Amino acid sequence: MSGDLLDRLAEKRVVICAGSGGVGKTTTSAAIAMGLAARGARVCVVTIDPARRLADALGIEQLGSVPHRVDAGRLAGHGITTNGQLWAMMLDPKRTFDELIEGLAPDAATRDEILDNRIYRELSGAVAGSQEFTAVAKLYDLERSGRFDVIVLDTPPSRNALDFLDAPDRLTGFLEGRALRVLLAPSGLAARVVGRGTAVIFSVLGRLTGVDLMSDLKVFFAALSTVLDGFRERATAVKALLADDATTFLIVTSPEREPVAEAIFFRDKLREARMPFGGLVVNRVHPLADEEPDADGEVDGLDAPLARKALRTLAELRALAARDAAAIDRLRRAVGDDDPVIVPHLAGDVHDVDGLVAIHRHLFAVGDERARLLSEAAF
Ligand SMILES: Nc1ncnc2c1ncn2[C@@H]1O[C@H](COP(=O)(O)OP(=O)(O)OP(=O)(O)O)[C@@H](O)[C@H]1O
Ligand SMILES: [Mg+2]
Repeated sequence: MSGDLLDRLAEKRVVICAGSGGVGKTTTSAAIAMGLAARGARVCVVTIDPARRLADALGIEQLGSVPHRVDAGRLAGHGITTNGQLWAMMLDPKRTFDELIEGLAPDAATRDEILDNRIYRELSGAVAGSQEFTAVAKLYDLERSGRFDVIVLDTPPSRNALDFLDAPDRLTGFLEGRALRVLLAPSGLAARVVGRGTAVIFSVLGRLTGVDLMSDLKVFFAALSTVLDGFRERATAVKALLADDATTFLIVTSPEREPVAEAIFFRDKLREARMPFGGLVVNRVHPLADEEPDADGEVDGLDAPLARKALRTLAELRALAARDAAAIDRLRRAVGDDDPVIVPHLAGDVHDVDGLVAIHRHLFAVGDERARLLSEAAF
């Protein structure tokens, strides 16, 4: 596997940045989109819950499920010439889910029946995997629209990055509602086990609260059954898109122990699910300089106590850097990526445009330039 990110992304139309929480998926997605747009592509980055300042930097203050074009002038002032187009959007999972149902409903009446249904309103946002699913559903729509050469997808901060891989299956399973339907059918399990009990409870609840849950549930499943075939088809198409040759998963990680373990685990799962792996991005690395610093206690221009302090700090940083180097070695072997893309831990704010530009320089550096840039940040 060639180490340069540009080679890894050649011919790719969908780039998915996955990894455990807080490792830099959102930042990396935005920086990759910026880099590809600079190199002439029409790119859309779909971010999930970006930090406020990052959203501001990209000019996507509002939620909404439509891409906004990032003003090229905004980047030009920071040394980035956008030869293509950069679009960005913030995913609104609830809205995207509603849109999906709207598109699948056979008529306006059914559509409203579902969208206004209390059960639907409660469940559509809360079901495990629904955020992951809406992300890929959106990805599918954007890809089909033909408006973009590349779509970069950030993934939700799920504790388990795998939620994302089986979201289509889990959600169809939920919507098919087999368990619930068996339970609630007139001759279903509930009726058999508790006689009329469930219905009585629901009806008492209804009288007490004025909320007729039973009929809400019935309406929900009746209306939902009309969109199920379409939904299943969509889930299949989305899974096919995830597995496509023109799709690639980048696993983003930091060198810390837990994200590293999760990155290795995620790599195995990708292999099992036959999803295309594009490589590792190890972010927030403290690079280790080749040369030992002079340890004789003399630092030019500093008096002795200050010099000792500076050397102690340097020793600590070098210990951290050695730990990071060991983590990268472990990742290399376990994941089978000889030459992962390394992004150093940058001081200061990476949420603003300058921060993104700096991250993007490391991501897109080619050949010897990669090592040179890293050594500038080394201890
Ligand atoms: N190379 C870096 N150097 C310094 N800070 C960084 C770097 N990369 C990311 N950060 C900071 O780390 C934090 C997490 O980054 P980011 O939001 O991109 O992670 P994430 O993986 O998307 O998190 P979540 O799983 O919560 O969505 C942010 O505050 C970001 O500014
Ligand atoms: Mg994020």
